[in-house]
Amino acid sequence: MSGRTGLFVTLEGGEGAGKSTAARGLADLFRAEGGEVVLTREPGGTPGAEAIRALLLGDIPLDPLSQTMLHFAARADHAQNVLRPALARGAVVICDRYYDSTMAYQCYGQNVPIEAVAALIRLIDLHPDITFLLRLPAAAAQARLQARAGASDRYEAMGPAFFARVAAGFEAIAAAAPDRVAVIDAAQPPDAVVAAMRAAIGTRARR
Ligand SMILES: Nc1ncnc2c1ncn2[C@@H]1O[C@H](COP(=O)(O)OP(=O)(O)OP(=O)(O)O)[C@@H](O)[C@H]1O
Ligand SMILES: [Mg+2]
Repeated sequence: MSGRTGLFVTLEGGEGAGKSTAARGLADLFRAEGGEVVLTREPGGTPGAEAIRALLLGDIPLDPLSQTMLHFAARADHAQNVLRPALARGAVVICDRYYDSTMAYQCYGQNVPIEAVAALIRLIDLHPDITFLLRLPAAAAQARLQARAGASDRYEAMGPAFFARVAAGFEAIAAAAPDRVAVIDAAQPPDAVVAAMRAAIGTRARR
């Protein structure tokens, strides 16, 4: 991709794994090192994509394929208006969830064909330099979510079989892309999670 000099980092994993906490910690670390850091999230990151997020995380029923297309509608706007420009400026871009979440939740979790999502990924054609899969046993994630006590969304209302499929999906994605995806033990304290990510970036990214 011409002009791209930044570093594109994505964080993935189930609810309560600590993605948002780790993303903030990693952003703080890179800011302290100097240079521009863009901390963003999906679905969201632009006004249009945040409006789509409200639809996706709301309680209006949506067919899984419709959810998939909305995720990519949001992602297209985010990629074009935030991610690509930031990477062209040379920023470190840290994105809390990206296309692996769509693959895990919609394909593995809800049976949307993998090829449909793969085609949309190719259409947007913006790939992370490194992706962190924050791996945390379901019971530990559940305990964190109960302690956080926020509003539940459409996925938090789904049963354990769904979450097992999503977790298996993330593992399959990591196993299929070992050069891109680094698995992090998310049961560690937050500082250790951030340090593990920073160490992996030091040796694997900016390729
Ligand atoms: N490494 C950690 N050790 C202990 N607690 C943590 C850790 N990381 C995050 N937490 C706590 O667990 C809860 C969930 O963390 P966080 O919101 O970062 O998860 P998340 O993966 O972003 O979840 P979601 O997918 O729902 O957005 C929060 O209350 C947070 O303070
Ligand atoms: Mg979060």
